[in-house]
Amino acid sequence: MTQISTAPSLPAYLAKPLAAWRGFVSRLRSVMPKGLYARSLLIVILPMVILQTVVTYVFLERHWQLVTRQLSTALVQDIAAVIDVHNSYPQDKNDDTLTRIAQERMNIDIEFMPKGALPPPLPKPFFSIIDGALSNEIRRQIGRPFWLDTVGRSNLIEIRILLDNSILRVVAYRSAAYASNSYIFLLWMLGTSFVLIVVAIAFLRSQIKPIVRLMNAAEAFGMGREADFHPRGAREIRRAGYAFIEMKRRIERNIEQRTAMLTGVSHDLRTILTRFRLSLALIGETPETHDMQKDIEEMQRMLEAYLAFARGDSGEAAARTDMREFLAGLRGEAERHGADVGVSYQGDPIVMVRPAAFKRCLANLVGNALSHAQKISIDAQRDLRFLTINVDDNGPGIPLERREDVFRPFFRLDASRNQDQGGTGLGLAIARDIARSHGGDITLGDSPLGGLRATVRVPV
Ligand SMILES: Nc1ncnc2c1ncn2[C@@H]1O[C@H](COP(=O)(O)OP(=O)(O)O)[C@@H](O)[C@H]1O
Ligand SMILES: [Mg+2]
Repeated sequence: MTQISTAPSLPAYLAKPLAAWRGFVSRLRSVMPKGLYARSLLIVILPMVILQTVVTYVFLERHWQLVTRQLSTALVQDIAAVIDVHNSYPQDKNDDTLTRIAQERMNIDIEFMPKGALPPPLPKPFFSIIDGALSNEIRRQIGRPFWLDTVGRSNLIEIRILLDNSILRVVAYRSAAYASNSYIFLLWMLGTSFVLIVVAIAFLRSQIKPIVRLMNAAEAFGMGREADFHPRGAREIRRAGYAFIEMKRRIERNIEQRTAMLTGVSHDLRTILTRFRLSLALIGETPETHDMQKDIEEMQRMLEAYLAFARGDSGEAAARTDMREFLAGLRGEAERHGADVGVSYQGDPIVMVRPAAFKRCLANLVGNALSHAQKISIDAQRDLRFLTINVDDNGPGIPLERREDVFRPFFRLDASRNQDQGGTGLGLAIARDIARSHGGDITLGDSPLGGLRATVRVPV
């Protein structure tokens, strides 16, 4: 048995945890924010929240409870002492001395009440460690039935303990049994973290703004729009900005050079062609000169197309263009050539494009359709991000394996198809050039009309 595997196989016992881990990661990725701003904010805030939770837990659970327990122990020790004195010295009538000493030295109010039943226990407060700490201590040190009120009056607590022949009622300050200033610590912590978050937000904002600006400038350049951009921010971002500007300049310089060179060459050739034509005219009309005349005309036409290709769309600025009018114009021209043209448009018709270039792009596609078919349909739709235009025809179409080739400059199928209408093979190359300089592209497909579908898609 042979086994062909592209990836090294894992031991079976690892497969399950690995799948679970991958699922977890992909789920995490789907809930994580996508933007840099939100992510960096998370990077700052998440550790802070974790740190604070841990600190609060440790502090509250350990330190706070410990202090409270110690304070409670001390308070209950005092009460136990009072009870011992009360039991050991019955000669103190009405316990006046004891009450006075307790008041002056222990800072608690005591009162011996006639024997009776203790009030029913109060409901336990939800968040109270003082209740538990005191109860524990009384049970441990005194071991008599008792009643506690830690809820009622805010800064006092009341304890009643059932003695042999009376009830001892103690009123003490809450702070005597409870580390009450711990709230201050929490407040400080929340306050400072709030300040920290505000500072972090302000700081991140100013750090991320330059990245967003660089992104916008690069996007605008990709769509062939001019953007006002000055590198700002941290050193790395500024350097990326300068590198971008340098790259943009180089590309622009390249285009300029190409245009200048090709225009020069075309211009020179044109002059020579004109001279040719003049010479031919001087020779006079013969069958030979007639053929030569036709050749010269073809050369001239190719030269014009070549010039158009070389010129590209350099220099033209993007402008708000009404696509509906635009398409209506195209339709009018196509119908003048005797074709049956349908046009539809969906969405907001105002789009930012370089009008003349975009027109040439679409005109080339429609022109191709015109020379291969009788029925043409132009359907455009615009959504939030893209303008998509389908140019459909009912002609012969282009076989799948040729659909990339036809975009190459000077590549023609018509010459071999024997239906030469005298093209130059530049139409699609120019159209694609224009679409790409708008940040989009052209693709070819099958048309529902039976022929070719050319799809222009540019970001808006
Ligand atoms: N709508 C179409 N239907 C069939 N073939 C097409 C269509 N559009 C273009 N083609 C083919 O693609 C080739 C390249 O087109 P293009 O670049 O416009 O050059 P040209 O039109 O000058 O020949 C053409 O030679 C033609 O064979
Ligand atoms: Mg063409």
